[in-house]
Amino acid sequence: MKIGVLGAGTIGSTVARKLSAAGHDVKVANSRGPETIDPQILVSGARAVVADEAVEDVEVLVSSIPLNRMVGVAPLLRRISDDAVLIDTSNYYPARDGRIAAIDDGQVESVWVSEMLGRPVAKTWNAIGSGSLAAKGTENGSPARIAIAVAADRDRDREVAMGLVNDTGFDPFYSGSITDSWRHQPGSPAYSTNLSYEEIEVALALADRDRIPNRRDLQVAVVTERTDNFTRPVPNMGDWLVQLNRAIYIGVYPFMK
Ligand SMILES: NC(=O)c1ccc[n+]([C@@H]2O[C@H](COP(=O)([O-])OP(=O)(O)OC[C@H]3O[C@@H](n4cnc5c(N)ncnc54)[C@H](OP(=O)(O)O)[C@@H]3O)[C@@H](O)[C@H]2O)c1
Repeated sequence: MKIGVLGAGTIGSTVARKLSAAGHDVKVANSRGPETIDPQILVSGARAVVADEAVEDVEVLVSSIPLNRMVGVAPLLRRISDDAVLIDTSNYYPARDGRIAAIDDGQVESVWVSEMLGRPVAKTWNAIGSGSLAAKGTENGSPARIAIAVAADRDRDREVAMGLVNDTGFDPFYSGSITDSWRHQPGSPAYSTNLSYEEIEVALALADRDRIPNRRDLQVAVVTERTDNFTRPVPNMGDWLVQLNRAIYIGVYPFMK
């Protein structure tokens, strides 16, 4: 497929690299220009382009930028055709994004994105850490494959997003409509806890909407304290975060037993 990726940070770069390795025609852009994009992202054939070009003539656009930049890129994202699939990977972290009153008041994060853009979105890759996305993908059908939640309202958005998640090495699990995608927002049991297909179904059902924001902020507080405000990396940070997330968001893991 012809795919644009807007955002070449930890998630956008990994998605671009994996989708180009899977045979898709991928172009990737950041805010500063193609010459600033790490050549390692391009080894599988993705092309670095300016942001304007990333949204031109694409069947899929993956938006992988911080939530607080969304309003700024909205005019660009509105240029893609209604038929194209717009995948939103974003999450709301008030400590990073600043306060967004509507979301603080309970609006679902991707509903906020969709309404702001005035078009449907699919939400996926938001609930897996970049280290896991880069390193833990496996072949379709392999045992204990990690599952990734996919929310979408339109059939084609759902089918395309699920196919692309599979192409990145993970089992796509349809989590329902965008209105229900709060079930895989930061703080929920399915958020960055690296669960199997069977486990993620349980985790999504267990989500308690009222407790999610508090658990998100608790996790940020622990990470901030443990890493001396993000200045001291923890060894095997990605795996450590998964363990921490399971403790805070799930409680006792494995919860299937
Ligand atoms: N990190 C994770 O493990 C993870 C996992 C799942 C989902 N997410 C979510 O995915 C989103 C992106 O996260 P990230 O960690 O990849 O962020 P990041 O590392 O900070 O990268 C953000 C990217 O967005 C680009 N960008 C910002 N404003 C832009 C604009 N106006 N036009 C074009 N590009 C723009 C930046 O380009 P410049 O550097 O040139 O400004 C950068 O390449 C966030 O909402 C995050 O919560 C993150």
